Order: sequence, then C-alpha cells, then structure tokens
Amino acid sequence: MSTPLDEQQITVSASSLRAMRDEFQRFLMEYRFGLQEIETKISILREEFHEMHDYNPIEHVSSRVKSPDSIVEKIQRRGIEPDFDSVRAHITDIAGIRITCSFVSDVYRLFDLLTAQDDITVREVEDYIATPKGNGYKSLHTILEVPVYLSTGRVDVPVEVQFRTIAMDFWASLEHKIYYKYDRQVPMGLTESLREAAETAAALDERMERLHREVHGEQGQASSPSNVIRV
Ligand code: GTP
Ligand code: MG
Repeated sequence: MSTPLDEQQITVSASSLRAMRDEFQRFLMEYRFGLQEIETKISILREEFHEMHDYNPIEHVSSRVKSPDSIVEKIQRRGIEPDFDSVRAHITDIAGIRITCSFVSDVYRLFDLLTAQDDITVREVEDYIATPKGNGYKSLHTILEVPVYLSTGRVDVPVEVQFRTIAMDFWASLEHKIYYKYDRQVPMGLTESLREAAETAAALDERMERLHREVHGEQGQASSPSNVIRV
C-alpha cells in the first residue's frame, strides 16, 4: 500500500525548517496587526459613544487569530494550494473579531460607522440577520480589509468581523455546544426546536429594543441599515 502524499516522509535541513518557521510567523503577524487595527477602531468608537453620548452600543468584543492547526485543516478541507499566496487569497477568516451589540439597530450602526472609514474596504457582506441560515443562525458577517504598515511597506489584511446581538450570541453559543454534544448527529426534533429557539431570541431582541426606545426615545438609535448589501 502506498503512503498518502501528506503522510510521506521528507527530509528538511535545519536552516530551511527555520526559514519556514520565520515565514509562517511573519504571515500570522500580519493578521495579528490587522486585528489590532480594527480593535483600535472599535474601542475608539466605543469610548466616544460612552463619553459623548453616554451610551454604549457594544456589549463585548472578542478576537482571535486562527490557530495553525485550524488553518491546515481548512487548507485540506477546501483543497487550497498550500502556499502562502493561495492561503492569503482563499482563507479570509485567519483574523476574526466578533462584536456583540446591545440591539439590532446597533449592529447596523456599528457596521455603517466602521465601513464609512476611509481606510476600510468592504470585501464581503453576508447578512444572516436579514436572511437567517436554515437552522435559525443570525449574525452580520463581513470581511473588511485594513492596511497595515510594516517596514517592508503596506499590506492590506482581511479581517472577518461578525456583528450580532446578545440574544443572537446566546443562541449561537449554545447551538454550537448542543451540536458538538451530539457529535454532529442532531436529531430531527432538535433541529426544529433550535430554529424555534432562534425565533424566540429574535422576538426578545425586538421586545428589548422597543422597551429601550420607549424609555430613551429614538435618540441614540440607528436609522435604517442603509449601506448593507444583502445576500
Ligand atoms: P468556516 O469558516 O470554515 O466555518 O466556513 P465558512 O466561512 O463557509 O462559514 P460561515 O461563513 O458560514 O461561518 C463562519 C463562522 O460563523 C463560523 O466559524 C461560526 O463562528 C459562525 N457560524 C456560522 N454558521 C453558524 C451556525 O449555524 N451556528 C453557529 N453557532 N455558528 C455559526
Ligand atoms: Mg465565512
């Protein structure tokens, strides 16, 4: 029996191994800096809202650079050429940020404010709030490109930014847990219950936003999601 290609033994000199390690570190570093740029933009908006409007549209922000293992897994799963240029071009979620907002209107307002900035390029928008996934999943998925200036010059780094409300985040976190608990074999009834739970979460979002408006008025609330390209 022949050994599969990705299991075959190869001999690599210590110096070329070090060179590969350095190149991989440099590759990941660009994404780390891209994340930092977007994180700074978000915290500036957050502080400004807090200081000037006494309002905070952001509940929490989390970010991560994809682990080398997950990158390799995605390269294999998607059949991507294993060189840096192909990976750069085809894997756009190596840097990822999740912004959990208070209300649905805050999701679109933050998207508008972030993407109105001169140095941000919108590469992709998938609006799973307007059009939820079949299982009920909701979030606004975007790929934004931000310039990073290194000693070697400018690199435009893609960052996957997911915007959602606390209710959407609650549902997605628990759906993820349930899904894995059942080892990807979700029983039929459970799928339907999960979709209903997503609708309950959406109804809660609506109700809480309505209550917030009743107490605070329209002021501080976003207008319509004007520049969102729906898919
Ligand atoms: P991967 O990035 O490899 O997952 O493939 P993809 O880019 O085609 O996935 P997609 O854009 O649909 O989703 C990207 C991320 O959004 C996932 O890694 C999850 O964090 C989140 N997500 C998408 N769909 C679901 C879902 O149905 N349930 C939950 N809990 N999270 C989801
Ligand atoms: Mg994606």
